[in-house]
Amino acid sequence: MASAAKPRLDAATGYEVISPESYAKWDPLLDTFDRLREENPVAWVEDAEGRHPPFWLVTRYDDVMRISKDNATFLNNPQTVVFALNEAIQFAKNLTGGSPHMVASLVTFDAPIHMKYRKLTQEWFMPKNLRQIEDEVRELAVKTVDRLLEAGPEADFCKLVSQPYPLHVVMQILGVPEEDEPRMLMLTQQMFGGQDEDLNQSGMKDLPPEAITQLVAGAVKDFEAYFAKLTAEKRANPTEDVASTIANATVDGEPLNDRDMMGYYIIVAAAGHDTTSASTAGAMLALAQDPDQWARVREDRSLLPGIVEEAIRWTSPVQHFMRTAAEDTEVGGQQIAKGDWLMLNYVAANHDPTQFENPRKFDASRSPNRHLAFGAGAHQCLGLHLARLEMRILFEVLLDRIEGVELAGEPARSKSTFVGGLKTLPLRITPA
Ligand code: HEM
Repeated sequence: MASAAKPRLDAATGYEVISPESYAKWDPLLDTFDRLREENPVAWVEDAEGRHPPFWLVTRYDDVMRISKDNATFLNNPQTVVFALNEAIQFAKNLTGGSPHMVASLVTFDAPIHMKYRKLTQEWFMPKNLRQIEDEVRELAVKTVDRLLEAGPEADFCKLVSQPYPLHVVMQILGVPEEDEPRMLMLTQQMFGGQDEDLNQSGMKDLPPEAITQLVAGAVKDFEAYFAKLTAEKRANPTEDVASTIANATVDGEPLNDRDMMGYYIIVAAAGHDTTSASTAGAMLALAQDPDQWARVREDRSLLPGIVEEAIRWTSPVQHFMRTAAEDTEVGGQQIAKGDWLMLNYVAANHDPTQFENPRKFDASRSPNRHLAFGAGAHQCLGLHLARLEMRILFEVLLDRIEGVELAGEPARSKSTFVGGLKTLPLRITPA
């Protein structure tokens, strides 16, 4: 297909939709998505300098939903499943001996292997099983809120609550001891926050892509070393946690190889906390900006599930995933060729006014709220019930213990194209 016929984005917009800074600024990017959904809903993004492979940017809810559910036509291979610059793709290939994916995990598998791996832990993440960990999660929520209240009337909610709490939960289900959690936090932030100088621990602004990739590769190596030790322990003394399930799992009668097993731990450890952190902080921001809503939910806890679901839509912590077309096809009137790369932009889809009335408003009573923040189809978030449970329990405790909450400074979002959200949320708190 001749690229001239494609509805190509202008260079400035093409840069805006992949730039980590745009996701930190947020509102102007939402304006751009509003325009694109109207004028160019399946847009061809090609960098004139060839810094990244070209791709289709998909911004309408219906198109993102359709692609997500058609896992035969739209694969998670062979191009990367997260947007990456050519340099980073090449670096990963060199490191892994050919795969563009630094880590092999559920999100980098397609059928038939994907379902075999997913089934290993699927039951564990179902509501029925999760009921068994509710008491432990509540204990963690209470301890976390204790620390917030001890910090005084003014505190950074991200630092004291929304970052450590989901991390504690995920580490608990992986059987990682509490003293190792700071190290895990640092490693996941290096992997996911590689583009943000406050989160990647480098303290350096504007790192070149090569340096960011090296940081991420270093984090992956550290993770691997850590989880190799954990596997040996969980094989010798298996318990009820997810790590024991992974360490002792077999696929087609064989134990998982090292790369696949590490990938499994890494996806649970990494996917499970920065995401939930972002939606938790987003819910708190929305409530701090609307004291009446805080008071209403305190009185009527039946509103809580609505707060949780709306926070997940409104924040859309996973901002995109990529797919590769397995065959020639069509999306939103555009001809897609076999091998083309597509960006499913969940931020854009979750702000589509044809699906969500007044999409920028945080509306806890929104119904239905069939957002795409957890994706859809075969790869739909494995941890979605856990994420909802964590948020519901934390807010139950927060609402019990806090009379009122307001902003005490400017919140700030992280610079990241993939997983993003608030990195600081200064609050003034009135205890109950
Ligand atoms: C608000 C919090 C969360 C959000 C917004 C979120 C979002 C997502 C999204 C968008 C996907 C890809 C879906 C697709 O390709 O269609 C995904 C996959 C995944 N998530 Fe989550 N997630 C969250 C929390 C969690 C938690 C708590 C865990 C586990 C501890 C988790 C584990 C996973 C795993 C293992 C996958 C890969 C599933 C597969 O490829 O089969 N996530 N998540």
